[in-house]
Amino acid sequence: MILSFSTWPEIEAQLTRSRAIVIPVGSTEQHGPTGLLGTDALCPEIIAREAERADEAILVGPSFNVGMAQHHMAFPGTVTLRPSTFIAAVRDWTQSLAAHGFERIYWLNGHGGNVASLEAAFSEVYAEHSLLGRAASVQLRLRNWWELPGVMRLIGELFPTGHGGHATPSEVAVTQWAYPDRIKTAELTPRIAPTGPIRDAQDYRARFPDGRIGSDPAQATPEKGGRIVAVAAEALRAELGAFAQSTGSA
Ligand code: NI
Repeated sequence: MILSFSTWPEIEAQLTRSRAIVIPVGSTEQHGPTGLLGTDALCPEIIAREAERADEAILVGPSFNVGMAQHHMAFPGTVTLRPSTFIAAVRDWTQSLAAHGFERIYWLNGHGGNVASLEAAFSEVYAEHSLLGRAASVQLRLRNWWELPGVMRLIGELFPTGHGGHATPSEVAVTQWAYPDRIKTAELTPRIAPTGPIRDAQDYRARFPDGRIGSDPAQATPEKGGRIVAVAAEALRAELGAFAQSTGSA
């Protein structure tokens, strides 16, 4: 079930069957000369929708598609939030869903830079209950899609060298599988991009001139992306099933 394609009576009925929802969360940021700006939000959305296609009891919420991308701002098309804005927005999304009775909110993340601020947002939500001496009505889970069981092992097999940390062949392959008519090509020099620390946007562009970090995304193919999506979607289904049944308050 896809929330954006549902009506409110359908969601009201869904809440009588399950109190769990998965929210794809990512970023809109440069992904090198061949990666789509939407990559980090598209990957978790693609995986969540593939899991839903196999099990329509899974409810997939709207994608939170702008995140922590200040370091990519020297590349056109990047859109970022400040940490404080991001934390406040995640909190408002969570509380909106909790107000309707959702008790298990699973954030499937596609951008490593979001992790610290997502965890801070979760603490904000929990603190509101803790400071009043009340049990929280909602349980929150953060999972990076590449950390779903079996995914990193497959990625290691598919891309033993040049996977890197940004504009990776795995994330590019996932988008190529879902959107084969949007595949881009470009000359990548050097073939495997440099690595180094991440600071502000000007420093980033000086260190990583084409936007990639440590990666060779030319290794991506739609077929490899399909294999990654299949493993990730199956693992997500299993995790969501356990999470929806997990014990807790409410
Ligand atoms: Ni990415």
